[in-house]
Formats: sequence, structure tokens, C-alpha cells
Amino acid sequence: MGKKKRTAILISGRGSNMRSLVEAARADDYPAEIVLVGSNRPNAAGVAWAVEHGLSTVVIDHKSYGSRADFERALQSALDSHGVELIALAGFMRLMTPEFVEHWRDRMINIHPSLLPSFKGLNTHEQAIAAGVKIAGCTVHYVRPEMDAGPIIAQAAVPVLSRDTADTLAARILKVEHRVYPAALRLVAAGKAACVDEKVIISSEVMETGGLFSPTI
Ligand code: GAR
Repeated sequence: MGKKKRTAILISGRGSNMRSLVEAARADDYPAEIVLVGSNRPNAAGVAWAVEHGLSTVVIDHKSYGSRADFERALQSALDSHGVELIALAGFMRLMTPEFVEHWRDRMINIHPSLLPSFKGLNTHEQAIAAGVKIAGCTVHYVRPEMDAGPIIAQAAVPVLSRDTADTLAARILKVEHRVYPAALRLVAAGKAACVDEKVIISSEVMETGGLFSPTI
């Protein structure tokens, strides 16, 4: 395996996806190393967990900055000082400027709790239930300037049951998020998820070994 990719995880809240990435990255053969956890909210529960677990953390409170660009300058300088090569957004609820997104093009990924391109934005689970879909899920994608858009790296589906509320559906999807995100970051960090004409090509090596949920994940 080549050098591990220095990866930052950005969060705004609970941080359960962050935890799943941190835990996966403990494996010797995992191609990403989590070198920084950043939050735009000082009291995000995920930050406390990251501190307790000895990770480097940075809080950049967006409310202390006059503009999105100023906030991003502070964020960029924290990323630079940790030598970050890849960013994984994990419940990071701030839109980034097109300049920031372009700077990190194909080096920044996000997870969204729907089968994109359906149900972007907030209240995703309510949207799925209101639409009456029978299958929901999550998507990991490369970030592009448009919200919840970009080449899809991996998706997982779960059933929507007639008794579901937004909360029960969210909990079912969250379970698969915790499997899909570490698997997707593994592919990206290993250089096995290439963007070609705005579609992701997964290296044939991965497909031949049983796909995303191979026993090594
Ligand atoms: C997750 O369900 C994630 O997919 C979603 O926020 C939640 C964060 O939970 N992200 C988005 O909706 C992004 N548009 P977590 O903090 O426990 O990982």
C-alpha cells in the first residue's frame, strides 16, 4: 500500500459518520489517515468525542466570520497546517463557495442520506416518506458547487416501510451510512474511484474482489 492519504473530516453535529471513518481508519491496511476533525459548531457532540479519542480538532465557528470566504480562509489554513490531502464531509451543514469546492475538486467527498439525485437538502427523510418511495438510502459523492450534487462514488439502499416515520427511516439509513462511508473513503484514498466525464469509475480490481463490501472492509 502507498502512503496513507492525510484526511480531514468536517462535521457540524453528532459525528456518528465521523466515528465510523475514524474506526475504519485504525486498520493497518486502510489507505486514509484521519489527521484532523474540524467543526463549524463549537458544541458539536462529535468534537468532544474526537478530543476524547486523541484526534487533532479545530473549531472554526462560522458565526465569528463576516463572510463565507473569510470562514473558508480560516478553514483552509487549518487544513494546510495539517497537510490535508482529502476532505470527508460528515454531517457538515455549511454550503461551501464554488472557489473552495473547486480548490478541493475530486479531493472532497460527502455523504447524504438519500439516493441522490432524489431528495437533496434538508428534511431528506420527510421528503422520501412524503413521496411514497419504497426504497431509500444514502449516497457518497464527490462534492461539486451545487448542493448535494456530484459524481456518485457509492450508494446503499434500504426499504421504506409503511409504518416508518422520518426518525425510524433515518435510523435505518444511518446504519448503512456507517458501512458505505468507510468503504467509499477507502476507494477514494486508494485512488480506485476515478472521475471520468463526471461519472465515477470504480477500479476493476475492486469489482473483481466482490465489490464494496468485501471482507477487508
Ligand atoms: C447524516 O445522516 C448525514 O448523511 C447527513 O447528516 C447526518 C449527520 O449525522 N448529512 C446531510 O444531510 C448532508 N446534506 P452524523 O453527524 O451522526 O454523522
